[in-house]
Amino acid sequence: MTSTSENAPEIVLPEAVMHRRTPKDPATATVVKNELCTAKKAAGYVRHIEIDVGGTELENCCLPGQAIGILADGVDENGKPHKVRLYSICSPTGGEDGKGRIIATTVKRMIDEHWESRKLFVGVSSNFLCDRKPGDEVKVSGPNGKRFLCPVNRNDYSYIFFATGTGIAPFRGMALDLLRGGCTKPIYLVMGAPYATDLLYHAEMLSLAEKHENFQYVTAISREKQRDGHDPLYIQDRIRTERDQLLPVLGDESTLIYICGIAGMELGIFQQLALNLNGSALEQYLQVDPEALADIRRWDRRMIHKQVRPTRRVFMEVYA
Ligand code: A2P
Repeated sequence: MTSTSENAPEIVLPEAVMHRRTPKDPATATVVKNELCTAKKAAGYVRHIEIDVGGTELENCCLPGQAIGILADGVDENGKPHKVRLYSICSPTGGEDGKGRIIATTVKRMIDEHWESRKLFVGVSSNFLCDRKPGDEVKVSGPNGKRFLCPVNRNDYSYIFFATGTGIAPFRGMALDLLRGGCTKPIYLVMGAPYATDLLYHAEMLSLAEKHENFQYVTAISREKQRDGHDPLYIQDRIRTERDQLLPVLGDESTLIYICGIAGMELGIFQQLALNLNGSALEQYLQVDPEALADIRRWDRRMIHKQVRPTRRVFMEVYA
């Protein structure tokens, strides 16, 4: 796999192990920790859940950026077992324990009101998982995914991670891998949440930023003012407000961009990249048709992969 520039390091991803256990034949693992990862006052419920997969085929093979499948107990309204649901791994390589036994994921309880019937809708799998207590068994499949990973020579690159909500999960694991592994190149984590109380792993990220000069943790709060005085922001707006720091990193030919979270977030990021970078700096991340380049503010999502094509230096994992 090569990048667009001749001098840029070649991007080689690790050979990720996949499907050690399938949804039809899942491993039985044990929840060992289940704690809130927002502030206590947050309106939603997001939990950091650690699972002991020791002694199963999932031991010592899960990488941050991959996912595990969870099979909730019980049956659906047709009497069939619940379908598998995928959750991003948020632990670093080697898991929470460094021995590959304890893997972790970040789960938001799915609770909604049906728009027409106004009935309460409670997501089966996320609530099943969030209800598990230490000692409870869960059925786990996976790992899944081989594209959304840090490269083999991960310390050769600089990184800009863009996350919204639980999209931070893979970046927690990746940042821990990079920082513990001695990466000295710049690593930016831009994290978006509705309110400051919704920021996930906030204390842990602040502490990483304090310990590691090359790790910058930037938040974008969409429904209230920022602590730095800026009005409500989306993550992509940070490319503008943090221009002085981010543009030199974006201009570097060893920088990789990772995007994870709510579907649609990639559009705003691509627009801000196109508005703030030009020529070869932009081409490192996006190949844009000339007509599209003339009217960046009118881009829409359908143009992505057509008139606006991310390069191999952009990694995306977005979900509805
Ligand atoms: P908002 O909902 O205020 O419009 P969560 O998963 O906890 O709901 O957080 C998702 C965050 O991503 C929220 O701050 C949300 O803002 C924001 N968001 C929603 N749509 C986009 C988008 N298209 N681009 C960037 N951020 C977005």
